[in-house]
Amino acid sequence: MPDGVDSTLRTVRWNKNRVVMIDQTKLPNELIFVEYDDFNQVADAIRNLVVRGAPAIGVAGAFGLALAVLQSKATTKDGLLADLENARKILFATRPTAVNLGWGLEKIMHTAKSGNSIEHIKELVVSEAKKMAEEDIEINKAMGKNGSVLFDNNDTIMTHCNAGALATVAYGTALGVIRATRESGKNVKVIATETRPIQQGSRLTTFELKHDGFDVSLIPDTAVGYSMANGLVNKVVVGADRIVKTGHVFNKIGTYQVATMAKQHGIPFYVAAPLSTIDLETKAEDVIIEMRKGSEVTGIGDKKTAPDDINVINPAFDMTPPELISGIITEKGVARAPYEESIPKLFQDGNS
Ligand code: MRU
Repeated sequence: MPDGVDSTLRTVRWNKNRVVMIDQTKLPNELIFVEYDDFNQVADAIRNLVVRGAPAIGVAGAFGLALAVLQSKATTKDGLLADLENARKILFATRPTAVNLGWGLEKIMHTAKSGNSIEHIKELVVSEAKKMAEEDIEINKAMGKNGSVLFDNNDTIMTHCNAGALATVAYGTALGVIRATRESGKNVKVIATETRPIQQGSRLTTFELKHDGFDVSLIPDTAVGYSMANGLVNKVVVGADRIVKTGHVFNKIGTYQVATMAKQHGIPFYVAAPLSTIDLETKAEDVIIEMRKGSEVTGIGDKKTAPDDINVINPAFDMTPPELISGIITEKGVARAPYEESIPKLFQDGNS
């Protein structure tokens, strides 16, 4: 474990009018915190995966707007809102798939518009962004509790990518469910997939689970079928970047393969995500899958692992259809098929 690791990983926070985040590109070798006072730096950090994971980029975007409101030199309310709108566009353009980014930005814009003076807007925006960060942790804990009943003592749980403390403000969604299961007194083990090409599984998930004393085993992505066929896995839980109302789940590339393999072996496959990840407006076929640069695939770190000038297809996310999903765990309960009925219900009865 690197020096200076405390017992709680806090991925992103606000400190003295600056945004502080763990630089996830340096993990697991170094635990480094970066500080930003310019929203453009936050936009770069989201684009370059210094901060990543749907809920974490939602809060990072909100903090980006909090910086933008402090940076603005506008002398009128309209001028300040125009500066904020410019920052919103820049932050929004960083990554297209996770709906939480747009959700976080819209929430702040809405708050800003309710202010009646420049000073009032600045206060409101900063305090709303800070509140969103705190609420993210509470939501993850509620989700964890709701999900923990689905897991049994001595289960070995597979997860893909990183949907942990490092993908949220703290605690995590899928890994939050695993944490809550352990907190409920059950003994669980975890199998983490490597998650090529960026290796969020090996670099981040094993790092944070080891940090918290979990029994975690790392497998290459290619060993998912082997692990399931040989009885090494009882259940799967993953996070999500966007869930549409038909129950189609968009998550890290490779999730669809894991879900298909789980179905083949009769292994329950759960998705854990907050309501802010659910997009009731967009149809599955209209969700934009982020395509990333080929060099992520033609090398590992600085080491080249493919010939020069090779053509690469590098989608960052894929879509898992609802028939492969045993349940969607949220802070408001667990939705089951048919999702077109159960997902909207999560937003009803004071549930939004
Ligand atoms: O490209 P990333 O690392 O941002 O992708 C992250 C994922 O796909 C996570 O599984 C998802 O955001 C859920 S995080 C709680």
